[in-house]
Amino acid sequence: MFQRFRRTRLNTNLRSLVRETNVTVNDFIYPLFVRSGEGIKTEVASMPGVFQMSIDEVIKECGEIKKLGLYSIILFGIPDVKDSIGSDSLCEHGIIAKAIRAVKEAHPDMFVVTDLCFCEYTDHGHCGIIDEKHQTVNNDATLKISAQQAIIHAKAGADMIAPSGMMDGIIHILRDALDEAGYENLPIMSYSTKFASGYYGPFRDVAESTPSFGDRASYQMDPANRREAVAESISDEMQGADILMVKPALAYLDIVREIKDNTSLPMAVYNVSGEYAMLKMAGMNNLIDYDRVVMETMLSFKRAGADIIISYHAKEVAKMLQK
Ligand code: PBG
Ligand code: ZN
Repeated sequence: MFQRFRRTRLNTNLRSLVRETNVTVNDFIYPLFVRSGEGIKTEVASMPGVFQMSIDEVIKECGEIKKLGLYSIILFGIPDVKDSIGSDSLCEHGIIAKAIRAVKEAHPDMFVVTDLCFCEYTDHGHCGIIDEKHQTVNNDATLKISAQQAIIHAKAGADMIAPSGMMDGIIHILRDALDEAGYENLPIMSYSTKFASGYYGPFRDVAESTPSFGDRASYQMDPANRREAVAESISDEMQGADILMVKPALAYLDIVREIKDNTSLPMAVYNVSGEYAMLKMAGMNNLIDYDRVVMETMLSFKRAGADIIISYHAKEVAKMLQK
């Protein structure tokens, strides 16, 4: 057999023709945090460039990101009043329902994903109803109100529902509830493999959702478990999820690849708040070439098998891609 030990050097044109992975603006979903009021745009100390916004500001922001070619957002609501069951999220006049309606009215061409959970809406900061006796989340009681929350999102006009609480059996319950209410074509993106991670720290500042006692280890996954991580996602596929997700992203790219190789569903990664904060702070202190490291990081998600990237960097990346 002929063996040539020198590889042909490709010029730039040919390099882009044979490039295996590309990052485009169509890969991204941009997270936005909405609260009541008017003209409010408060920057989050731990996440420079990320804001809590009132609905009017969210609408303005959507106009801006559309100009960059970014047409997908995921909305998180921060209610005025929190209580033990997160009532604000179960009511048509709650912050999230109002925000969805307003955004869809102002921007019908915007793809609006909604995070379905209770931690932003409960006074104890957990992702569901608390079982007082055991001081843990009551899985099945939470399933019931999750279905209610899904219908609230659907009625308000959400384009995709993204349950993030990792309750057992939730995809099956939501799919049934949505079908029954006439939303058979409303897709579900499951936070199917969500680890109990320290990388969510800054998010809990923005969403004001740090648990008042305990942690989320009873319903989120052990970072040490690879087989369990794959099984969780495959279980959600069988329950009817349309898109699977791994969260956080960077420390779990092996898991992304492994799930990708075991499913035919599209996959998302959530490039979480702590990951964003790390790059942001390093960039602000001139320790790294920020734009370059951001793009390299996004590329790593695509290479690992992600079809969708949920990222606070989305707007910056869209700008970089325009250059
Ligand atoms: C709500 C939710 C969280 C994130 C997305 N949805 C917080 C959590 O699980 O504590 C984290 C996102 C981030 O850190 O950027 N369950
Ligand atoms: Zn939650």
